Amino acid sequence: MAVMFSGCNNSKSPNGNRGALASTAAEKVYVPPGEHDEFYAFFSGGYSGNLTVYGLPSGRMFKEIPVFSQFPTNGYGYSEETKPMLNTSHGFIPWDDLHHPDISQTDGKLDGRWIFVNGNNTPRIARIDLKTFETDEIIEVPNSAGNHSSSFVTENTEYVVAGTRFSVPVPQKDISIKEYRGNFKGALSFIEVAPETGRMNLKFQIMMPGFDYDLSHPGRGKSHGWFFFTTYNTEEANTLLEVNASQNDKDFIAAVNWKKIEEYINNGGGTKMPAEYAHNVYDHSTHSAKSTIKKEVLMVDPTKVPGAVFLLPTPKSPHGCDVDPTGKYIIGNGKLSADLTIHSFGKMIAAIEAEKFDGDAYGIPILKFEDVLAGQVKSGGLGPLHTEFDGKGNAYTTFFISSELVKWNVETREVIDRQPNYYSVGHVMIPGGNSAAPFGKYAVAMNKITKDRYLPTGPELEHSAQLFDISGEKMELLLDFPTHGEPHYAAGIPAEILAPESQKIYRLEDNKHEFAALGGDETRVERHGNEVHVYMSMIRSHFTPDNIEGIRVGDKVYFHITNHEQDFDVPHGFAMIGANNAELLIMPGQTRTLVWEPGQVGVWPFYCTDFCSALHQEMQGYVRVSPANSDIKLSWSLGE
Ligand code: CUA
Repeated sequence: MAVMFSGCNNSKSPNGNRGALASTAAEKVYVPPGEHDEFYAFFSGGYSGNLTVYGLPSGRMFKEIPVFSQFPTNGYGYSEETKPMLNTSHGFIPWDDLHHPDISQTDGKLDGRWIFVNGNNTPRIARIDLKTFETDEIIEVPNSAGNHSSSFVTENTEYVVAGTRFSVPVPQKDISIKEYRGNFKGALSFIEVAPETGRMNLKFQIMMPGFDYDLSHPGRGKSHGWFFFTTYNTEEANTLLEVNASQNDKDFIAAVNWKKIEEYINNGGGTKMPAEYAHNVYDHSTHSAKSTIKKEVLMVDPTKVPGAVFLLPTPKSPHGCDVDPTGKYIIGNGKLSADLTIHSFGKMIAAIEAEKFDGDAYGIPILKFEDVLAGQVKSGGLGPLHTEFDGKGNAYTTFFISSELVKWNVETREVIDRQPNYYSVGHVMIPGGNSAAPFGKYAVAMNKITKDRYLPTGPELEHSAQLFDISGEKMELLLDFPTHGEPHYAAGIPAEILAPESQKIYRLEDNKHEFAALGGDETRVERHGNEVHVYMSMIRSHFTPDNIEGIRVGDKVYFHITNHEQDFDVPHGFAMIGANNAELLIMPGQTRTLVWEPGQVGVWPFYCTDFCSALHQEMQGYVRVSPANSDIKLSWSLGE
């Protein structure tokens, strides 16, 4: 039956998958009206800079959470309160390339408090609160470029870790690119996470050789206290990397004993180094973000901390670096290889204790391949990229070149099943797949190419995800669904962990926004020179004040608008004609500020953009704009 099913899928007939088998798959993904999905899935949006939220098994998209990119839908990155979130040492950078989401953990299990994501381009890590589904904090990562081996968390969310993809001069300086080898460095960053608040702090960086650091995963169980990073370009080439960085038969997985480094710095180790990076924090009581520029980082030279960093030779420019749920095995996905390399944590420790080294790289000991190898998965496919686990002893590896998902047994390393992907699979996600306790019911393959899977939409199609049922011996393809941007990894979690905690409103009595208009008598308009501050409230279905006169061309008008609703799912919108930034979408109990600089004399309307009641169309007001030299007095109507 499985053969028939995949045979149908290969067929070019548009109706090829409509059969009895397709209908059993359909039943498995059907969530009846009014019922809820079993899992949340958070997909990175890649070049969209944002994170999207889907339900599994339905594949329905619930939300797009703005993180690194401005978002006109709700004014994130345009409103005065949220602009500071996008501040960096390079100034205001309102977009990024968002990669790997990872959910916070306690005792190696998903705790559902926060989700961390990385900005790849202007190196940043963001923390999103999973009660409000809003970005709470963004920290820039200095001395880095192409923040790719991020943003994975340790077993108790002690740290969220980032590694630079591109090595750069540290500190930055004007130097010939030809002098790359030996002069460029790769910083691995350990950002501590406060256990109660989630607040991030860049605790230390490790100055590593000038390789490219690709992906990383934490140790767990016995290997807790370690972190593993894949590297490529150990050749330290600086041109035509597709050839020059593929010369070495083996690159490395760098094994970092962060506990040992923590001990070293707690005893005064490390060197304080000047740096410049932004730390942006959103406060849910003031409904506002603040950006602070930090000036210093603690740098650790790994050669000064014996026993802290080792290099494990790993074939063929490894991409994914995955640790199984027991923490015993570290899997190197050699992207130019046919085989998967499985390193043994136990063998690695034994080799370190026996001091069986095979030279060093810039003073960092290299272990022998044979001494750390647990085994290889032979003929698993071509071009392995990423591996996830089901918690039942099986691993699931994506193979980009042969475009398939391969299930294999972690202990015996025998291939159990293989299923084609349409087309060119990159990441795979099993809810909890990067934890000690995965939920091995579904696997989602994230494909890089869509081609004929959906109706054509011009030259560009959304990427396709494919949902597999992995509860049985063989995997079963259930569903194709489009994903937004370019997902580079996803993180899934049972809905029962998140849904009961989800916040419904912001309480007005907790609103500490300095420009909030909480009671009716706080609504007013104030002029300070050319700046006009409008303290406005909104409730179904009117604005207070609704008409304002005495505004002049050349003024800068701040609309500070507080939504007085205290009901779930009743946001109001705000749109001002000629506003060249965005509209706002304001949640119940929240205050948001939009700046408008009127350029033309006239009477200009504003209105609510979110259909909030039968009288939504009546939710409007006017601003009268007079010439710059006008002496018309400021006045407003409160609708009495
Ligand atoms: Cu408020 Cu429409």
